[in-house]
Amino acid sequence: MRLPLAVLAVAVVTSRANGESHWCYDIQANSNPGSCQRPDQWGGECQKSHQSPIDIVTHKARLDHNLKPFSFSGYDKKEKRTVKNNGHTVMVSLEPDARISGGGLAAQYRATQLHLHWSESLNKGSEHSLNGQRLAMEMHIVHEKDTAKEEAPNPKDKIAVLAFLVKEGNEFNEGFRLLVEALDHISKPEMNFTMEASSIMDLLPKENKLRHYFRYQGSLTTPTCDETVVWTVFKEHIQLRRDQILAFSQKLYYDQEKKLHMTDNVRPLQPLGDRLVSTSRAAGQLLPTALPALLLPTLTCLVASVLS
Ligand SMILES: *[C@@H]1O[C@H](CO)[C@@H](O)[C@H](O)[C@H]1NC(C)=O
Ligand SMILES: [Zn+2]
Repeated sequence: MRLPLAVLAVAVVTSRANGESHWCYDIQANSNPGSCQRPDQWGGECQKSHQSPIDIVTHKARLDHNLKPFSFSGYDKKEKRTVKNNGHTVMVSLEPDARISGGGLAAQYRATQLHLHWSESLNKGSEHSLNGQRLAMEMHIVHEKDTAKEEAPNPKDKIAVLAFLVKEGNEFNEGFRLLVEALDHISKPEMNFTMEASSIMDLLPKENKLRHYFRYQGSLTTPTCDETVVWTVFKEHIQLRRDQILAFSQKLYYDQEKKLHMTDNVRPLQPLGDRLVSTSRAAGQLLPTALPALLLPTLTCLVASVLS
């Protein structure tokens, strides 16, 4: 779409006159140039060197035995929750009583909200990538540290985000039904809707599949990009049916006029720099149950050759 130059000029002047140049994703800046700050112009800490998201190169991740399983509390409690279109994503309020501990974290953390990132292209919607590959969506559950009073105001581990990559699966994911249905009620920014009672666990892979994850130190992926986030990216993916994934792009809009579908709300990858990614299990390491299955035939073979 090409706008007449005069219209563009007016738009720029108006946004400056309001004294606000609000942050946006590239897709928004491209559809309305000059109207907002695109990712390479974001302020705050966004141009610093320990930013998120990153590409996780799985074979370079360092095994860390301190990365034990998480304890989830309140995650299975069914609650009525408010879901809102905040102009950048769809956000579910989680307070007051979901918490995590363990998982190699030094403290207990309280869940505050969860939200998602997505695209119409099923290989462009996650923020983190694995070995250069993006998935369809990414869900972030944001937690804040239970603060000890004597602590500095902005410790590096003030926030813990649990990240779940979402890929296309063949089956309808019943756990996501209420959230996807809620999208019909929050198509425009600032709209909100109260969902029927559901639990956070409804949205996640089975708990016994959450033992393995990547860990690194990074930032929020939206302004002001504070470098105060301990990231956990789980190896097990959420699976949604294609229509459930596409509902986000189709039903939500960035703007009140419903001119631009909310999609590609994904920050570009940031350099890893001098950071290391850790893993709770070495990449490609055999599962304990796979070992006997491999050893047994080998032993049998050995014994057989000795006896013959
Ligand atoms: C939800 O929207 C109503 C107006 O429609 C507003 O009064 C209320 O504060 C909103 N709630 C949240 C949590 O944003
Ligand atoms: Zn996020």
